[in-house]
Amino acid sequence: MTIRIIRQIIEPKIVIEGAGVRLRRSISPHRTNIFDPFLLFDHFIFDYPIEGPISGFPMHPHRGIETVTYMLAGSTHHRDSLGNSGTIGPGDIQWMTSGRGILHEEMPRQDKDGRVNGFQLWVNLPKSRKMVQPQYQEVNSQSIPQINHIGSHIKLIAGKIDSTEGPITGISANPLYIDLSLDSHSIFTQNTANEHTVFAYIFEGRCSFSKDGKIVQATKLVQLDKGEQVKIYSDTGVRLILVSGTPFDEPIAPYGPFVMNTQEEIKQALKDLREGTFVK
Ligand code: FE2
Repeated sequence: MTIRIIRQIIEPKIVIEGAGVRLRRSISPHRTNIFDPFLLFDHFIFDYPIEGPISGFPMHPHRGIETVTYMLAGSTHHRDSLGNSGTIGPGDIQWMTSGRGILHEEMPRQDKDGRVNGFQLWVNLPKSRKMVQPQYQEVNSQSIPQINHIGSHIKLIAGKIDSTEGPITGISANPLYIDLSLDSHSIFTQNTANEHTVFAYIFEGRCSFSKDGKIVQATKLVQLDKGEQVKIYSDTGVRLILVSGTPFDEPIAPYGPFVMNTQEEIKQALKDLREGTFVK
């Protein structure tokens, strides 16, 4: 078994999006597409003074991607152009396939202790599925399988571990998405398809990816090299999101909230917005 070693360690950068939300961004859409099939990874928290007053993401469009919202604390209220609305609470997941087009609003709300803590991942769609009808998979925390081994606690959102399958299914990137807690002096092992892109977002504690390997301290995103197995060692305990998916190996043309394959398709998305034919 080849063990995945660290390819790069990324320090999240503060960026301002929506109505002035300060986010910690580790991956952003780029033509080089080095995280293929993943396009963006944001962490939004409002419990530090740096975040300023709570704000959100008023109505905006998406085309050609999937947006995945997972909350640890607080909630995100959403509504969209199709008439859907709801609240994503702590431990809940929303996997939204924008397909050909959706306009939506995402407004984080604090819990009674003033906390908001959540993640948004953008997953690409292959060329053949960029213009499908929009679709949601929303799963509340009680329906997410938890797998507890000695020293490791897994919430399985998408993918398969042993005989347990996560509730999110039918995604083109064939993803694994887990929320992992490791106790101090624990090891976690997960087999992965060799060609998959794999990253870990470490948000509490620290860990290494080989015995006596480089120790990575929160908060960092670690991209791993190709390999058949991920191993995570923690001396102090760690909390992280581990994500894996199949690359599509297609050119991408990112433009704000749209990610298509060509510039012509971006022009078409903008034209559809102008002409009111974006949402059907
Ligand atoms: Fe959005």
